[in-house]
Amino acid sequence: MSKIRAVITAVGGFVPEDVLTNFDLEKMVDTTDEWITTRTGIKERRILKGEGKATSYMGVKVVEEILKKRGISPDEIDMLICATVTGDMVFPDTANTILDKVGAKNAFGYDINAACSGFLYALTTGSKFIESGTYKKVIVVGADMMSSIVNYNDRTTCIIFGDGGGGFLLEPSVEEGYGVIDSILKADGSGRAYLHMKAGGSLKPASSDSVNNMEHYVYQDGKPVFKAAVTGMVSTIKDLLERNQLSIEDIDWLVPHQANMRIINSVAEMLDFPKEKVMINIHKFGNTTAGTLPLCIWEYENRLKKGDKIILTAFGGGFTWGSTYLVWNK
Ligand SMILES: CC(C)(COP(=O)(O)OP(=O)(O)OC[C@H]1O[C@@H](n2cnc3c(N)ncnc32)[C@H](O)[C@@H]1OP(=O)(O)O)[C@@H](O)C(=O)NCCC(=O)NCCS
Repeated sequence: MSKIRAVITAVGGFVPEDVLTNFDLEKMVDTTDEWITTRTGIKERRILKGEGKATSYMGVKVVEEILKKRGISPDEIDMLICATVTGDMVFPDTANTILDKVGAKNAFGYDINAACSGFLYALTTGSKFIESGTYKKVIVVGADMMSSIVNYNDRTTCIIFGDGGGGFLLEPSVEEGYGVIDSILKADGSGRAYLHMKAGGSLKPASSDSVNNMEHYVYQDGKPVFKAAVTGMVSTIKDLLERNQLSIEDIDWLVPHQANMRIINSVAEMLDFPKEKVMINIHKFGNTTAGTLPLCIWEYENRLKKGDKIILTAFGGGFTWGSTYLVWNK
């Protein structure tokens, strides 16, 4: 009997309307468009504004687009996994808030916190629920409102991040050889030293001191993150290719986490992978953390052909990293 795979039957994406350009940032911190462009490749990012709008707002938009494209009702969703580090609240989870807001009465869900690798963790987990035959319609969303945890006085971080999200509907395959084929996911908790938020968790609950010390924002030591990101993504891609008896020439698209254009270029160069087959939208959206990978697929979907072999790769806080191999089915 052939193995059931999870295939992607609809893609959704959402970015807020408000644009924060490098020139806007020049007025906020000691930086220049030239520095940001050459060091990161980012020209602008989107910022979610408006009373009561948070990560679930973007997740709802993503799910609504998915339901519309697939022509199904919210009641048909079995499960929703939301990858995010900027959930609406510490608890309850944002997946449940999204399900409530879209009116999905028959589903359950939960959040995955794996920072920029969150979408790969969610995609892999969601696929397993399909492969096991447990569920028939699983939505995986990656969304982050990074503007809620970025210090707009810190020029080393505020230039990088933006808000946005995307997602996939996963369903059981009807044809063999398509869908999510394999993933390699990794973690090294010692990396938390370089990328974290100091306060707001049980280690250091919110207090007037934590607020005064600006500890509710992203802390990042960029250089070690940069190095670990390149080696982590390259090594998991190589292992994934070998495990699936593929060579780099077999791959039609590389979808890298959009953290820094120099990281993306280094990964492509180390793999000898042609740049024109690398999905890029960092110049427009910056790093949307769990949102970057589905947002890339959302934007490039009309260029994908049935049978295209795609590798998604990510690295993020934790440290967490990994790569997923999928064959496009639509
Ligand atoms: C953050 C990052 C862009 C910084 O780039 P970098 O080339 O490593 O720059 P450095 O940190 O060495 O800083 C170089 C100089 O530029 C300065 N600088 C930092 N941010 C600046 C800014 N926005 N504008 C102008 N100058 C800036 C630094 O203060 C430093 O000055 P100094 O030499 O006088 O000390 C880069 O390290 C990076 O992208 N790291 C990975 C981040 C990432 O991927 N995070 C998401 C998790 S996946």
